[in-house]
Amino acid sequence: MSTFPVSEHASWVGALDWNLRDFHGLYCPRGGSYNAYLVRGTKAALIDSVYTPFAGQLLQHLKELVDPAEISYIVANHAEIDHSGALPQLLTAASEATVVCTARCRDMLMACHQVPAARFQVVKDGDTLDLGGATLRFYEVPLVHWPETMFTYLVEDQALFPCDFLGAQVAALPFFADQVPGVLNEARDYYTFLMRAYAKAALTGVARVRELAPRVIAPSHGPIWRDGGEDILAAYERWSASPEQNLVVVAYASLWGGTEAMARAVADGAGESGATVKLYRLSACPVSRVLGDILEAKAVALGTPTFVGGIHPALAGFFPFLSMIRPQGKRGLTFGTAGWAGGGARKLWKELQGLGLNLLEDVPESRFVPGPAETERLRELGRKLAQG
Ligand code: FEO
Repeated sequence: MSTFPVSEHASWVGALDWNLRDFHGLYCPRGGSYNAYLVRGTKAALIDSVYTPFAGQLLQHLKELVDPAEISYIVANHAEIDHSGALPQLLTAASEATVVCTARCRDMLMACHQVPAARFQVVKDGDTLDLGGATLRFYEVPLVHWPETMFTYLVEDQALFPCDFLGAQVAALPFFADQVPGVLNEARDYYTFLMRAYAKAALTGVARVRELAPRVIAPSHGPIWRDGGEDILAAYERWSASPEQNLVVVAYASLWGGTEAMARAVADGAGESGATVKLYRLSACPVSRVLGDILEAKAVALGTPTFVGGIHPALAGFFPFLSMIRPQGKRGLTFGTAGWAGGGARKLWKELQGLGLNLLEDVPESRFVPGPAETERLRELGRKLAQG
């Protein structure tokens, strides 16, 4: 894709990665992007950089619009490598450019890329940078999702560049959110994986955006919102405060199908109550998609076979992710097969209790495969879970 304008003074100059599928754990079935923006007044500023393998694309795009040597500023909203990897190459091509960022971001960039201190201009909340006919204003917004992050606002165009915040991992042409069907689906999983752990900071970020009331929201991943971004702002508010819908997620590990049969019975019962049900075998599904659904679920049922006297590793490895999205208060059920030892489902119950779920006391455990009476009991528990 070539460059394109996003507002009067700003153009997209980033990189699309159509083949991206795994973004440090986030499943990206529709690819992804590393967005960077060139803002031109009488001086030129680049907002954010791209992941290292895409430095060539960024430089090629810049050259369509400006001689890189004429870039005066490189604004770094965030230090993470996907937005700073190309910085060393940029600083060579834009040999006179100053890196504009928060003090924390400067320290991180120096540690990541050995950028000399003399090349930085540190800014604080509310500072401005005059490009001559285009003014950038900076807002410190820590923990969306790293502590050094800031938003950059292009005052004359009412265009906001919030880096990761309000983004999604999607590659698309055209690249405006109103032209990308289903973008909120990908934005939800992205939010869940990157932002949900800091939901309070996310709400502060949304409040800051609402104060600014931008016309254009141009994040560093995924499509650009050119209609004020009400859809994504409202979604962030819901996902951060009260994400629960009438949805039940049943997720499980299974060795030979016994726990899977139990999971299906629970799912069937939940479905009979009228709830939407999602059923996942954890070893077969991207963890970020399961988490995104759990974020919106009012109830979660997890099942495990007893594995070496305990919980199957697919479940054990899932807990850190589950903890990350703060599932406290959701209704929960655990179940599983005993094999010759038993106890896995009860250990699972204790783990989930530690995460603050509101669990049913009943912990059904079938020896190998649930019989008819056990299956009916599991269906009943599924109904109970969904009705609560
Ligand atoms: Fe897109 Fe936190 O980096």
